[in-house]
Amino acid sequence: MEILFNDFKRQYSLIKEEMDSAIHEVLNSWWFILWKQVSSFEEEFAQKNWSKYCIWIWNWLDALKISLMALWVWEWDEVITTSHSAVATTLAILDVWAIPVFVDTDEYYCLDSVLIEEKITDKTKAVMPVHIYGHSCDIVEIKRICDKHGLYLVEDCAQSHFTEFNWIKLGNYWDTWCFSFYPTKNLWAYGDAWAIVTNDEEIYKKCKMIRNYGQETRYEHKLFWVNSRLDEMQAAILRVQLKHIDENTEKRRHVAKKYIDGLQWIPEIQLPWLREWSTHTFHLFVIQCERRDELMTYLKEKWIPTLIHYPISIHKQPFFDWKYSDLKLSNLDNQVQRILSLPVHPFITDEEIDYIVLNIKEFYGK
Ligand SMILES: Cc1ncc(COP(=O)(O)O)c(C=O)c1O
Repeated sequence: MEILFNDFKRQYSLIKEEMDSAIHEVLNSWWFILWKQVSSFEEEFAQKNWSKYCIWIWNWLDALKISLMALWVWEWDEVITTSHSAVATTLAILDVWAIPVFVDTDEYYCLDSVLIEEKITDKTKAVMPVHIYGHSCDIVEIKRICDKHGLYLVEDCAQSHFTEFNWIKLGNYWDTWCFSFYPTKNLWAYGDAWAIVTNDEEIYKKCKMIRNYGQETRYEHKLFWVNSRLDEMQAAILRVQLKHIDENTEKRRHVAKKYIDGLQWIPEIQLPWLREWSTHTFHLFVIQCERRDELMTYLKEKWIPTLIHYPISIHKQPFFDWKYSDLKLSNLDNQVQRILSLPVHPFITDEEIDYIVLNIKEFYGK
């Protein structure tokens, strides 16, 4: 049995007719950039997030960067963030010439809200938490701290589509929140696509201008900025995917439950901690385990793929060597040595999960 970490072929075969028809509709419309599909999707996605505005962005890094630009976060401003993420989160901060200030992780692998206040200086302008793996940070506490110190809150929700904290959808805690639709995400395009969501009309208007060469009306450029427009094809594809997101999230939860039931009695394994009053959408199913690298090799020999998200924390990336060599994030350092992501996509079968669980048990002699 060969198991895939993501199985696009299985998904496409289930929705082929619907998807092909959406793609043909775009081909027959002869409009390819920022037209009806994009605006319909912006509306539908905002609605599903219980929020007012959505702006589609083509480029993977631009959504976070445009958010910071719209909030006037700029040169030498400090942004408090996490080192446990895809590098894009920090690159967006660097791209507006601001300075990332890293805070250690909590047991949920998120930026630890308890440690934020000690990092605030007169230069701090924003906090950028990452809701990692499909779970959420303690966003109510982070929002309280932002309000107390007059800071902006820009949330990286790339991995947490429609996750709830205190039964409220992530992002509804203010200024902007950004989603990725990279093909491995819970809601995915067949190419690159991102979105910024906000409830603030001013921020919405500014982000919309920035993504399209700073123009509000055609050929009148009020701002001097980027081109990051989404095409109609990806929007049409995402509109189809959006219809299936709830059912796919339920399947991810089903897979996670099977792993939890199957692996809960193995003392060498730490299962994901789940916050009360919150939901988990299991973008990734991450365990901590002993002899992690040996287990990875053992599973690979059985055709079971696993990954590490992320093996090198951002502050330890070679391009940062000069700046953060003295920084100690002890919780994160410890987690990075032990974390392992198991396949959790919605199209994996029960039989395949049982096979994975069986092999992990065998490895630990259970
Ligand atoms: C938390 C987080 N932020 C940002 C990104 C970058 O997004 P993309 O994959 O669309 O480039 C990712 C992607 O892996 C991510 O997981």
